[in-house]
Amino acid sequence: MHIIAHRGASAYAPENTFAAFEKAVELGADFIELDIQITKDGKLAVIHDDKVDRTTNGTGFVREYTMNELEQLDAGSWFGPEYQGEKIPSLEAVLRKYHNKTGLLIEIKSSKTQPGIEKAAGQLISRYGRSMNTIVQSFDAGAMRAFHHMYPSIQTAVLIRPRFGLLPRGRLRQIASFAQYVSLKATMISPFLIKSIHSCDLKALAWTVNGQKTGSRLKSWKIDGIITDYPDYF
Ligand code: G3P
Ligand code: CA
Repeated sequence: MHIIAHRGASAYAPENTFAAFEKAVELGADFIELDIQITKDGKLAVIHDDKVDRTTNGTGFVREYTMNELEQLDAGSWFGPEYQGEKIPSLEAVLRKYHNKTGLLIEIKSSKTQPGIEKAAGQLISRYGRSMNTIVQSFDAGAMRAFHHMYPSIQTAVLIRPRFGLLPRGRLRQIASFAQYVSLKATMISPFLIKSIHSCDLKALAWTVNGQKTGSRLKSWKIDGIITDYPDYF
């Protein structure tokens, strides 16, 4: 079972910063999960929200900043004074640092409002060579299908909130034609669903799992990976 650090080890350091990513590596996470948004100058910034307000000392939409302008913001002080000066990383800087070191689970946010984001991500990831340990995910299954056709050698995952712990077999088979993983909201998972996912040649990830009991239960159900703020708990 893979341990995937959600936005880095985000319980211990400000999410989606190098401080959180370094902590994840130090705690032995197999993958770092991170979120990307496109900037005014077409670069990819590692930040969860479409606005900078919650996690930096700036205001406004990420898409209204260039990457260079975003790098001037303080993305650490909101979490704790010791993190003052942490920056919003670019995806390029993260790939440069980690592509050979640890797995990366890269979530594309808001494909519909950020045209070109999949292509920009695929081009950048391809530049760092095909990595067995890079997975690109999105809630937008159509965007992931398109991504797979453009970059068939990069692994993909579809994020889903399965109603009543179920997903129709037909839907899973369809997903299996362009993805290797489904990434599921943990509270909506059943052992039957995991079996059904495996029978369609897909792997199952669960988010966000911060309780050890839940982690053990999912492990006994043969989940393939858990996404957690506390990679040291599991
Ligand atoms: O990787 C799954 C999880 O990150 C999805 O939720 O809001 O934390 O991006 P969110
Ligand atoms: Ca995410």
